[in-house]
Order: sequence, then C-alpha cells, then structure tokens
Amino acid sequence: MGDFDGQVALVTGASAGVGRATAAALAREGAAVALLARGAGPLEAVAEEIRAAGGRALPIVADVTDERAVEGAVGRAAAELGGLDILIANVGTNRGGPVERLALDDWNLVLATNLTGVFLPVRAALPHLKARGRGQIVAVSSGAGRTGYANLAAYCASKFGLNGFMAALAAEVKDDGVRCGVILPGSILTEFGGRAVEEKRAGGGKYLLPEDVAASILHQLRQPAHAWVQELHLWPF
Ligand SMILES: NC(=O)c1ccc[n+]([C@@H]2O[C@H](COP(=O)([O-])OP(=O)(O)OC[C@H]3O[C@@H](n4cnc5c(N)ncnc54)[C@H](OP(=O)(O)O)[C@@H]3O)[C@@H](O)[C@H]2O)c1
Repeated sequence: MGDFDGQVALVTGASAGVGRATAAALAREGAAVALLARGAGPLEAVAEEIRAAGGRALPIVADVTDERAVEGAVGRAAAELGGLDILIANVGTNRGGPVERLALDDWNLVLATNLTGVFLPVRAALPHLKARGRGQIVAVSSGAGRTGYANLAAYCASKFGLNGFMAALAAEVKDDGVRCGVILPGSILTEFGGRAVEEKRAGGGKYLLPEDVAASILHQLRQPAHAWVQELHLWPF
C-alpha cells in the first residue's frame, strides 16, 4: 500500500532533476503520474523507469508556456489516468548576469517559464482538482524567491512573483478543498542552469539532491486534511 494509491499526479519538468525524482517518488507511493516536458526521449526514459518499477506513467510532450499545449496535456492526463488529484508545478529556468547586460529575450524567457509556466498548468488543472472535492498543488520556487542574489535579478523576480501567485491562489481555492503549497529549495545537484552535475560536484559547494526535494514535496502532500504546509524552506547543510 502506498500513501498515494488511487491518486493521479501531474508533474511538469518531469524528465530531469527535481521533477523526475518527484514523479518517481509519487509513483513508488502508488500514484499514477503524468510526466510533462518538451523533450520526448528523456521523458519516455523516465516513464520506462517508473513502469519497470511497477508504477503507472504517462509521458506527454508539452511546453509549459504554450497555452494550447498545456490545456491539451492536462486534459489528456485527466482523461487517460482518471482525473487529477495533484499538480507539481516544477518547471523553472534561469538566465543570469548583471541587470545592465541582461537581454530582454532572457528576461522574457525566465518570466514566461517560471511564472506563465506555472499559471497555465494551474489554470488547466483547477477544474479537475475541484471536481475531486480536494486536490493539491505544490509549486517549486527557490530560496531566490525570498532573498535577492546578485546577477539573478530575472530569476529572483520570477520566484518572488511565483510565491505571490501561489499565496493568492491558496486563498482563492481553499474553500474548494484545494491546498496549495510552495517549496523553496537552495542549490540542488541537477543540470539546472546548464552546468553538469559533475562540474557542480567538483566545485565543492553544498547541494541538496533532487531526491531530498522530492521527499520534502511528498511531506507537504502527505499532511492530513486539517493541516497545511504553505511554505517549506529546504537548504543544503
Ligand atoms: N537546481 C537548483 O539549484 C535549484 C535550486 C532552487 C530551485 N530550483 C527550482 O527547481 C525546479 C526544478 O529545477 P531542476 O534543477 O530540477 O531543473 P532541471 O534539472 O534543469 O530540469 C528541468 C526540467 O524542466 C523541463 N522544462 C524546462 N523548460 C520547460 C518548458 N518550457 N516546458 C516544459 N518543460 C520544461 C526540462 O525538460 P525539457 O528541457 O525537455 O523540457 C526538465 O525536465 C525549477 O523550478 C528551479 O527553478 C532549482
């Protein structure tokens, strides 16, 4: 028996890093998981891993900034897996550098991915979550959503904004039984930002593992119906 037996989860950015670890953890605990990302190959590989371990996975290629693609993906996940109980809005990207030299395209890409890329899946998922009379959303923010870091202005703006979006959403859908939480992790050992894991490891800094973040997301999701982890700060130690 798993903690999420009979539930359906949709994880954005599920082909790598935190999304992949979270999808695998939910599947291990009995959830059927819809996996979203842009690249088909890595997504299929994660789906195969989950199936090989006895889980149920549905890979769906979609860009979270594409309104029609997201609507189609969420609809397909709910139709093929039998509704929706959990959304993990995990996709995020970063383009760093001093503000004076930050290209408008980079600024737009970060805001579109990290804000619109959460708004669209949330909007598409809400009718399905409400239809259950319960439902959960966890968005993956960042420590950079609470603290400003030099050369990360676009990323910080997007993650501060994401926290605001999720706080407003939490208040809005509370009475529909939909519980909305945010996780704010510090640095994680993934390929995020275009740096290889080996390179990060060799740099000697302190990192969380994607599995640490996944475990904390499941902790948020596991709360009894009368309890709510609105924000969870997770740092490397
Ligand atoms: N890594 C860190 O140090 C760190 C620290 C704090 C917070 N975070 C946050 O944690 C979350 C996950 O980060 P991560 O490190 O796991 O990232 P990652 O390893 O780079 O994985 C990103 C995932 O998102 C997918 N993706 C990217 N853009 C997409 C788009 N437009 N549409 C659909 N899928 C897209 C990627 O697949 P495709 O490229 O194939 O689409 C991949 O599956 C992000 O929100 C990030 O901001 C990361």
